[in-house]
Amino acid sequence: MTKETLTSSKSSALSGQVKIPGDKSISHRSLMFGGLAIGESVIHGLLEGEDVLHTAQAMREMGATITCDDQNIWRTQGVGIGGLKEPSTIIEMGNSGTSTRLLIGLVGGHNITVQFSGDASLNKRPMNRVIKPLEMMGATFTSREGGRLPLSVSGPETLKPIEYKLPVASAQVKSAVLLAGLSAMGKTTVIEETPTRDHTENMLRHFGVRVDVETLEGGTQVISIEGQKDLTATEVHVPSDPSSAAFPTVAALLHAGSEIKMDNVLMNDRRNGVYITLQEMGADIRFENERVEAGEQVADLVVTGNNPLKGIDVPAIRVPSMIDEFPILAVAASLAEGTTTMTGLEELRVKESDRLLMMYEGLKACGVNLEMGEDSLTIHGNGQPPKGGVKVKTSLDHRIAMSFMVLGAVSIDPVTIDDGAPIKTSFPNFIDLMNGLGCKIA
Ligand code: S3P
Repeated sequence: MTKETLTSSKSSALSGQVKIPGDKSISHRSLMFGGLAIGESVIHGLLEGEDVLHTAQAMREMGATITCDDQNIWRTQGVGIGGLKEPSTIIEMGNSGTSTRLLIGLVGGHNITVQFSGDASLNKRPMNRVIKPLEMMGATFTSREGGRLPLSVSGPETLKPIEYKLPVASAQVKSAVLLAGLSAMGKTTVIEETPTRDHTENMLRHFGVRVDVETLEGGTQVISIEGQKDLTATEVHVPSDPSSAAFPTVAALLHAGSEIKMDNVLMNDRRNGVYITLQEMGADIRFENERVEAGEQVADLVVTGNNPLKGIDVPAIRVPSMIDEFPILAVAASLAEGTTTMTGLEELRVKESDRLLMMYEGLKACGVNLEMGEDSLTIHGNGQPPKGGVKVKTSLDHRIAMSFMVLGAVSIDPVTIDDGAPIKTSFPNFIDLMNGLGCKIA
């Protein structure tokens, strides 16, 4: 991928109404489940970002028929449980950890061998977290040291169902085990102490699969599915991605006089942690027209820059519901009045980059007063814009890139990033959309 240097300069108040692209988690799952289901599924509002296009291509290489018409309506013809075929070449997954981990689960339930490879960021990310439970089910792996990509996964003739307690709060691991369990003979159970995003559960149900969820005292979830039951094709409407919407949201909050509106944003309570946190910091964010669409809670968001933000302690229990939003929250905290503490962030170290380190180094270079711990970030804001005026390293991480473009819109001097190309993995029209609201990103 060619590197794209981008610079963001101070802008005035933001205004306008925009449509944020489709939710990435739901988009991946629509293509995977549609690619498995019997019959034709129709997907509206799919995120056409590079990560999701990698999922589409991988499913095609394993036999699913996936098309997109000129109205951006996607259609899938699935192969049925057990019907994935062995691809003839290595499947390239680009930057996409979610596609890779979920597909490893799907493939592990098929008696085929598939090799996956990724870009420099994905090839560094830990895959043992999915290798381990899948080996317990009978799949076999060859990988680089430490369970890194490129790796090869072979499903056994008959997959054993397991009961698996998640060692990390990860929706990707939960999903990989459940997706393998679709092919197992019997009941597969995943136990999660800290609830993570539940799109796999919700969407499997939407595709006609029974998913049993029991909530134990203390909030532990026990999620079970019975294997060897086919998915039924259906229609999916993908709401806007709350993780993407967080970037214009923070940009608007940080400019007095701003008012922006974003319709139909996913407000699943396992995804909305950043909005609750920003409201606790004093942000004026309104959820209008709250409703349930295709089984998911959605709302129209109105965000203004009317209120100054103040520092708070973010409860660690909330981390899974805002796991991807800490980079942009750190930007908001840098301009808040007072100290913001964020703890329980160990998973940030194994995202597309070590996000804790990237935010610490980038913000420090921009003149923000902050400290980093093993799994924490403490930011001392004084309600004033930081200096900026530096070039920040992004390490193939779309969310680090977008966060510093938002910081550039408020810092005294412009902020440059070494590479904005990865933004296309999740938010292809980010620059045009932000500039349309009043930002100055070039
Ligand atoms: C995702 C789960 C999260 C999140 C990722 C998308 C998903 O990862 O960071 O962007 O769609 O299941 P983890 O499950 O590893 O926390």
